[in-house]
Amino acid sequence: PKITYTQPDGVQSVVDVNEGDSVMRGAVLNGVPGIVAQCGGGASCGTCHVYVDKDNTKPLPEMHPVEDELLHCTSSPRQDNSRLSCQLPVSAELDGLVVHVPETQI
Ligand code: FES
Repeated sequence: PKITYTQPDGVQSVVDVNEGDSVMRGAVLNGVPGIVAQCGGGASCGTCHVYVDKDNTKPLPEMHPVEDELLHCTSSPRQDNSRLSCQLPVSAELDGLVVHVPETQI
């Protein structure tokens, strides 16, 4: 499935991410900048923060309380569409998902 990562300056990377990999892993494996992912996907660092595109209609998993808590201490401000990209597993249903990389992660 293809995931689009949009940088703060508008530059987009469209990446084919393996099903089962997370949106975070898809970025890291493909050299997409701005997703730091210090904890490697353990939902404990908050440095894989992304903003899901406001027009998104793809089904995303519900937010676990741990993710919710971490999103309170991200470097860039939390918004209604904030998620931790390591908590978004890629499936065929997410093909075409667009996420926005925040200005800062640390
Ligand atoms: Fe650390 Fe997502 S990679 S919380």
